Amino acid sequence: MRNHLVQSLNNMNEHYPFQTEPLPYLYDYLEPCLNVETLHFHHDKHYAAYVENLNKTLRDYPQYQNMSLEQLIISVPHLPKIIQTPVLNNAGGVYNHQIYFDKMSHAAGQKPGPEIEAIFNRDFGSYENWKAIMTDAAMGVFGSGYAWLVWNRSSKRVSIQTTPNQNTPDLMKFIPLLLIDVWEHSYYLQYQNLRIDYIKCWFNIINWGKVRLH
Ligand SMILES: [Fe+2]
Repeated sequence: MRNHLVQSLNNMNEHYPFQTEPLPYLYDYLEPCLNVETLHFHHDKHYAAYVENLNKTLRDYPQYQNMSLEQLIISVPHLPKIIQTPVLNNAGGVYNHQIYFDKMSHAAGQKPGPEIEAIFNRDFGSYENWKAIMTDAAMGVFGSGYAWLVWNRSSKRVSIQTTPNQNTPDLMKFIPLLLIDVWEHSYYLQYQNLRIDYIKCWFNIINWGKVRLH
């Protein structure tokens, strides 16, 4: 199953003790969409805290220390009750942020390549329609969460989902291709309450070269 799961930041198959992976670019690389201060706080404080808390949660559970992030997330219902919520929140927090940071790049007017565009035409009508639906989904997340572009393993189609908090889509059924973090910590320093402006700019910094269909 591992080969079919999303790969991100080169080491999504790492296990305990998890490491805070460096950004795959400099802190000013996503300017002006995401400024240096926003990226520093988001990566160095928020994402790093999920890594630290996941390690703390697993410290006394050697039987789970060889599991990857995906395996931990999928296994949450089978873990001891006392660590189910911390693993859900923190393994999800690490997993989601690694995908998020990995799939952005300097704004250069990038658009999806022909293969993804064809899939968007088939499943959303057009790339522009996909953007509109993705925008509505991201704007519709009440409170903290994510909007995702996912690949359905059985129907072989792409779709959009939202998840609250640090939840992920059902990884047994879907492969995450792309996500936007709409927790306020991802944009508030720069955009304050204007989530819509952050979302609009995010479309310009998607690293389509790392969005891989399956
Ligand atoms: Fe975040």
